[in-house]
Amino acid sequence: MLYRYLILLIIFSQFSCNNKKPIRGVVSENAMVVTAREEASKIGIEILKKGGNAFDAMVATELALAVAYPYAGNIGGGGFMVYRKNNGDTGALDYREKAPLGATKDMYLDINGDVIKGLSTVGGLAVGVPGTVAGMFEVYEKFGSLPIEEIFEPVIKLALKGVIVTKKQEARLKQYYPQINNQNTFWDGEREKEFEKAKLWMKTWKENDTIKYPALANTLKKIMQNGKKEFYEGETAKKLVNFIQKNGGIITMEDLELYKPKWRDPIVFEYDDLKIISMSPPSSGGICLEQIMKMINPFDLESYGHNSVDYIKVLVEAERRAYADRSFYLGDPDFNEIPYKEITSQKYLSDRMNGFSFSTPTLSKDLNPGSINISESNETTHYSILDQFGNSVSATTTLNGAYGSKLYSDELGFFLNNEMDDFSSKPGVPNMFGLIGAKANSIEPGKRMLSSMTPTIIEKNNELYMVLGTPGGSTIITSVLQNILNVHEFGMTMQEAVNAARFHHQWLPDVVLFETTGFNKSVVDKLEKDGYKTYFDSSKISSKVEGILVLNDGKIEGGADKRGDDKAIGF
Ligand code: DON
Repeated sequence: MLYRYLILLIIFSQFSCNNKKPIRGVVSENAMVVTAREEASKIGIEILKKGGNAFDAMVATELALAVAYPYAGNIGGGGFMVYRKNNGDTGALDYREKAPLGATKDMYLDINGDVIKGLSTVGGLAVGVPGTVAGMFEVYEKFGSLPIEEIFEPVIKLALKGVIVTKKQEARLKQYYPQINNQNTFWDGEREKEFEKAKLWMKTWKENDTIKYPALANTLKKIMQNGKKEFYEGETAKKLVNFIQKNGGIITMEDLELYKPKWRDPIVFEYDDLKIISMSPPSSGGICLEQIMKMINPFDLESYGHNSVDYIKVLVEAERRAYADRSFYLGDPDFNEIPYKEITSQKYLSDRMNGFSFSTPTLSKDLNPGSINISESNETTHYSILDQFGNSVSATTTLNGAYGSKLYSDELGFFLNNEMDDFSSKPGVPNMFGLIGAKANSIEPGKRMLSSMTPTIIEKNNELYMVLGTPGGSTIITSVLQNILNVHEFGMTMQEAVNAARFHHQWLPDVVLFETTGFNKSVVDKLEKDGYKTYFDSSKISSKVEGILVLNDGKIEGGADKRGDDKAIGF
């Protein structure tokens, strides 16, 4: 009797282990908006409920993030967007910042040719010409359907009413007050000057306080009334240039007047039965993702198991090779001939993986960017939108570092980016994400700095399947990759895929970075034993994935990253 009872117990426990109830995110019938803050998701979804499309919702959501999530949401930065319309048409918009016309290759170097610490990350000289406002008008003019007032007004209302400080926001602000409150100085040619102090951020904001943004509301109102000209030629432009120059920057009215976003062809490739549509240069995201996915495709990842030793090795080795190529070949396509066909050909990538072995790592010092025959010739935020008509938008927008250059204009109500640090200040010297670069990503006037942002849309059987992306600097590409594989190879729900522990490798430095929780000790021990250097620091994998998955029954699942205050809202 006891024996039979034990057998039944074993069978039951196995049954319940194998049938763990999946953790689903928010599931809805018609539409979904997933962003880093509830306030922004709400504004986006309300636009859709009013009958607006994904592009109307994009503009409202992007602006709402500038209010509700000043850490990264912005009108003083830039971004990238990949879209897929309900008829299957796809495209991409580049509203990335540009180097000012006065920028020079050596602008961050001292007389000995060494990089001056902080110059490309804090203060006026770190600021690239912002692209967000022009990007939003570009989207609206091409695809928008609602009157512009209906898009701007809820955002202006939010700025006036204010946004409640979350616990995580309190902690972030605490970390950055010293820099925002300008203990920084710059040399104006004659004397050392302090950056202007931002009154809004002199107060120590606590959880549950409400921060109101009347200056930002005023700027947004003027932009709504006068269009993008307000930001690039009008009163706002003049005040902005004055503010940047007073704080050591070199952006002029001409820089603003000349700024134009660009429609680009997205990177499109296949992985099994998936069609991946992702961002093209000047982001490295799509090309690196394509290289990595083509290098790992011949391996039976599913059989290795999620986050197993062999799985991690295959991904790390492919990432090593792709990031080495990134450092050398990728930059602004308007300034460089990018050998896209060559570095994404299956033959080149198979050759590149030839040295791979499960027993010994390839050392990054022994691995250079691949050689080809060229035939002639610490912040960002992502949001994903699917509307009730079947149009989808995947957009990643950034100030670069947390609160960008830390320069905040009290008069205009927003932070300015420090995107100039995404250029390679000096060949071989790492930027704030440890990424190195070469000539392709050197500073030139009017050039766009190389990005890792990877807004992505995926089709399966010609139908929309996923919409996803994330912030996280250099870890963006590897986080998007793991999220896709979590769903496709390991059958996770979007929420489980987003929640799953992540690791990252980027060629240099030659270490594999892990989130501190969620990895099996025996897996890590084995990797170390086999010669992989490991490093645990969740804060260095600052990705927060916002994903949408179309389920078999046609319903939509939104997965918002549990690592932040992120929120999926559907209807
Ligand atoms: O464009 C890029 O790749 C970077 N400026 C992104 C910065 C970022 O994701 C910061 N977030 N943690």
